[in-house]
Amino acid sequence: MQRWQKKKSQFPVIALIFLVFVAFSILYNECNFRQVYQDQSHSDSEDRDQRSVVKDVSFFNSTPAQNITLPKKQPVGLDKFSTCRSTVTYSGRRAAWGVHKTEPSGRREEAQAEACDLFSGKWVFDNTSYPLYNESDCPYMSDQLACHKHGRHDSGYQFWRWQPHNCNLKRWNATEIWEKLRGKRLMFVGDSLNRGQWISLLCLLESVIPADKQSITPNSELTIFRAENYNATIEFLWAPLLAESNSDDAVDHRLDERILRPDSIFRHSSRWEHADILIFNSYLWWRQGPVKLLWGDQENMACEEIDGLGGMEMAMDAWADWVSSHIDPLEKKVFFMTMSPTHFAKEDWEPGSEGNCYDEKEPIYDERYWGTGSDLPTMEMVDKVLSRLGSKVSVINITQLSEYRKDGHPTIYRKFWEPLSPERVANPAAYSDCIHWCLPGVPDVWNELLFQNF
Ligand SMILES: *[C@@H]1O[C@H](CO)[C@@H](O)[C@H](O)[C@H]1NC(C)=O
Ligand SMILES: *[C@@H]1O[C@H](CO)[C@@H](O)[C@H](O)[C@H]1NC(C)=O
Ligand SMILES: *[C@@H]1O[C@H](CO)[C@@H](O)[C@H](O)[C@H]1NC(C)=O
Ligand SMILES: *[C@@H]1O[C@H](CO)[C@@H](O)[C@H](O)[C@H]1NC(C)=O
Ligand SMILES: *[C@@H]1O[C@H](CO)[C@@H](O)[C@H](O)[C@H]1NC(C)=O
Ligand SMILES: *[C@@H]1O[C@H](CO)[C@@H](O)[C@H](O)[C@H]1NC(C)=O
Repeated sequence: MQRWQKKKSQFPVIALIFLVFVAFSILYNECNFRQVYQDQSHSDSEDRDQRSVVKDVSFFNSTPAQNITLPKKQPVGLDKFSTCRSTVTYSGRRAAWGVHKTEPSGRREEAQAEACDLFSGKWVFDNTSYPLYNESDCPYMSDQLACHKHGRHDSGYQFWRWQPHNCNLKRWNATEIWEKLRGKRLMFVGDSLNRGQWISLLCLLESVIPADKQSITPNSELTIFRAENYNATIEFLWAPLLAESNSDDAVDHRLDERILRPDSIFRHSSRWEHADILIFNSYLWWRQGPVKLLWGDQENMACEEIDGLGGMEMAMDAWADWVSSHIDPLEKKVFFMTMSPTHFAKEDWEPGSEGNCYDEKEPIYDERYWGTGSDLPTMEMVDKVLSRLGSKVSVINITQLSEYRKDGHPTIYRKFWEPLSPERVANPAAYSDCIHWCLPGVPDVWNELLFQNF
């Protein structure tokens, strides 16, 4: 904590503002998923395999749609055009969630005491077993994450294996994973970091599915990959704030004023509730300043304003209420991915220097390292919410291990959706993406961890 505060005061305010700006523009400008698939279906279709864009909606629609109970009075939906007509400071109001008793947490602690801590360990260079797939072989690769294709030629970032201190990770076996997914729907729900993990999982698993048995249905909110021979899906649902918000369109969302409904998670839960395995994340979208709350009973778009952490806590509470009242751990598995760290301040790992993750080629080896990109108060809040859910949620604690990987980000080696001005090109660090992760790379290991105790 002390180190954290000291750093902050040393770090020039101007630089900090600048970094926040860079982070902001990357986070929002890249969230352009349709473009990824447009590339796939139109522009550069020569080097894309058309099989991946088969629009086959019959597969899951053949199962009868379950009835969805709509709330008695559905409040006005939010979209990118929604604006608050008036805004006051947050009143302290909390949503009246049904009181669910705290789940017995015994099982989780017990399980952890027996097994080794998978999240405590180090990165080991291993160019014989890694990468687990080739970037150019994966038909679902995103131009945002294909670093080699976009000019990154130091391939070292692909060769690191995560080595827990007291055990070894099981060897990745795609067939074995598919057997576990047979007949199931697996869904990632969250922001672009979670989407990167979803793409990583597709790349890790698609090679054992015959080309005519796999298909993908791109859609702006929910994208579904199907493996017909396993009757299984691997899906991604865009819900960066978990609760309903005016950023729920994955392609075309509002940037300057984020409004959420702290008492409504229904828009998303109605789409994720049928999944058998759910993997959630949420973090970076709460790190861009205050957010606005619009309660369901407020007419006339009368909003309240709250800081990002407070807003995230409310969304997490709404999510936790859903998990608590809908999840039977014997039937469904729920995972929560902790914060994915950013590396915008080289100062963090090399005191006194300027810059960011640009040109970093090796992980950090100091096991105590913790950077300013991972917010401790957020971690504490998430710990608190998750502990109430006991064995209903498994935590995949990727924060510390990803903190070490300052070398794993795309930096300038990705597609940027807007043309770069000559001034920016002349200063690569200024437009480096230190948020997302190159593939093959760090998210592959997140997926290995996800399936360790599956
Ligand atoms: C869905 O609602 C319809 C009409 O109310 C009803 O006839 C049907 O039985 C319901 N189905 C299920 C699965 O609850
Ligand atoms: C793996 O790395 C070692 C050490 O850098 C190098 O000597 C070797 O050629 C590499 N092997 C492969 C298959 O790239
Ligand atoms: C990646 O491609 C290289 C040659 O291009 C090949 O030797 C290697 O086996 C491939 N790796 C995987 C995981 O498919
Ligand atoms: C992977 O798993 C399948 C199914 O469990 C098994 O038949 C196969 O031998 C495994 N492959 C390896 C390399 O362990
Ligand atoms: C496919 O899986 C779904 C559940 O996701 C199940 O309802 C359906 O019966 C399965 N179909 C076959 C042919 O096994
Ligand atoms: C994740 O690990 C960090 C240490 O790296 C710890 O402080 C934190 O409490 C853990 N979070 C959860 C939700 O388990």
